[in-house]
Amino acid sequence: MAKVLYIKANPKQASNTFLISDSFIKAYKEKNPADQITTLDLYREGIDFLRERDLGDMGDPEKLEDRNHRVFKYAYQFLEGDKYVIAAPFWNLSFPAILKAYIDYICISSLTFKYTEEGPVGLLAGRKAIYITTRGGNYSSEKTRALDQGEPYLKTILGFLGITDFTVLSADCLDVIGVDKDEILRAAIREAENLAQKF
Ligand SMILES: Cc1cc2nc3c(=O)[nH]c(=O)nc-3n(C[C@H](O)[C@H](O)[C@H](O)COP(=O)(O)O)c2cc1C
Repeated sequence: MAKVLYIKANPKQASNTFLISDSFIKAYKEKNPADQITTLDLYREGIDFLRERDLGDMGDPEKLEDRNHRVFKYAYQFLEGDKYVIAAPFWNLSFPAILKAYIDYICISSLTFKYTEEGPVGLLAGRKAIYITTRGGNYSSEKTRALDQGEPYLKTILGFLGITDFTVLSADCLDVIGVDKDEILRAAIREAENLAQKF
């Protein structure tokens, strides 16, 4: 039985992105009924930015042992996952800041990565992630791809933690005048259902 952590980063519930990511999860569940899926809605959870006090706690080895500690609990939860589904809309050439705030909680030295003489090493090798996003404009073409700062960052930071099996599913152009938005969403949902078969 695999454990899947479904991380949602959007204050809107009626969301293009969640239409696709929820379809992915539904298809995944049908294919893998015994797997355990935990949903973490970052806005409902009220993820905060790391504060000065949190940074103090981060350096305290005794506090690090406490799986329920407010600073470490997300890293412990992340550690329990085998697979990650990250759903976030494209905001200002990246993803909503709450997802970065969450990443600051899961990158914890000696839990999800460690320092060695050769430099930092991720401790989550062998796990996989899919990033599901939707964008108002077109960021998938050769010319515009470099403008997207969200997908490359996620790929890099997950790689830093050892997660190199990283897939992206994006639906672009949803706010472009004249496009058939419903058809773009339907195509992305079909792709999500297909990807879920192999995830
Ligand atoms: C705060 C905010 C910032 C956005 N920034 C961009 C952007 O930089 N480029 C873009 O193409 N679309 C941008 N959009 C449009 C969204 O990416 C697009 O509408 C997306 O499908 C919204 O997904 P959702 O329905 O899941 O929230 C932005 C939307 C919002 C609300």
